[in-house]
Amino acid sequence: MSTIAVLGAGKIGEALLSGLLHAGRAPESLLFTERHPERAADLTERYGIASTEVPEAAKRADVLVVAVKPQDIEPVLDQLAPLVGPGSLVVSLCAGLPTALYESRLAEGTPVVRVMPNTPMLVNEAMSAISPGRHATAEHVRTVEELLSSVGKVLVLPESQQDAVTALSGSGPAYFFYLVEAMIDAGILLGLPRAVAEQLIVQSAVGAAKMLNESAEHPVLLREAVTSPAGTTINGIRELEKHGVRAALLDAIEAARDRSVELGRPHQQG
Ligand SMILES: NC(=O)c1ccc[n+]([C@@H]2O[C@H](COP(=O)([O-])OP(=O)(O)OC[C@H]3O[C@@H](n4cnc5c(N)ncnc54)[C@H](OP(=O)(O)O)[C@@H]3O)[C@@H](O)[C@H]2O)c1
Repeated sequence: MSTIAVLGAGKIGEALLSGLLHAGRAPESLLFTERHPERAADLTERYGIASTEVPEAAKRADVLVVAVKPQDIEPVLDQLAPLVGPGSLVVSLCAGLPTALYESRLAEGTPVVRVMPNTPMLVNEAMSAISPGRHATAEHVRTVEELLSSVGKVLVLPESQQDAVTALSGSGPAYFFYLVEAMIDAGILLGLPRAVAEQLIVQSAVGAAKMLNESAEHPVLLREAVTSPAGTTINGIRELEKHGVRAALLDAIEAARDRSVELGRPHQQG
């Protein structure tokens, strides 16, 4: 069995380790690196996974999952450069960092796969989009698909679509949280206690998500099914349309995509 090392066991790194264990991986086949010794000790105690240093992880693991913040990437690349080559697989979870950055800094032929996950990875419901770099084979892609399937769903997309992915599924959970927050406020406006409003809306969100996921129906049909003639829902929808909520979402997601492009610009090669 291959050894997987997660470099940077923060929120996303920990969620991945935990998902891999739940999926049946042996703790001995996993490693992680972490800057804070207390956190490393805590993770080892909770998961039974050993912590190590980046150079040691590079020597021992076949798959290196980079999960540090994008701004912390430089020292990690410096440490990996002399030790990583075509026999390793580098998986980057770092938002905005292109595979070309790794390829230019690591030995020629090093396979790299870029991943855009999202925070529902914390509850094993991630949406991850993965893109192979120049030297990643179909087998490497399969390995990464399998790895991330333990914490949610996976799509393979060309790297040119990663900025759009960042805006849609990377930021997406934040927009749903924002909508839920606004709807709870509406409950307060109508005089409901906060806890009641919260329960009504959160469960409605869970139910709606489940219907979207489990029924073969298009979202439009699901909405039409609760929008009866001269009923309450259509009166609400009229207000949403009047306030341009659809256009606001189109603009919001386009703005997020533009920001992702901007953040990635310093890392573009050539
Ligand atoms: N959270 C999200 O929604 C999300 C979504 C998609 C993609 N991502 C990507 O996932 C990556 C991780 O995000 P996160 O939210 O999990 O961040 P995080 O909680 O800050 O985790 C990063 C961890 O890496 C540690 N670290 C930094 N440099 C290190 C080094 N040289 N060696 C070992 N450990 C090191 C950090 O330590 P310190 O605490 O000392 O900094 C921290 O514990 C990011 O690149 C982000 O772009 C996150």
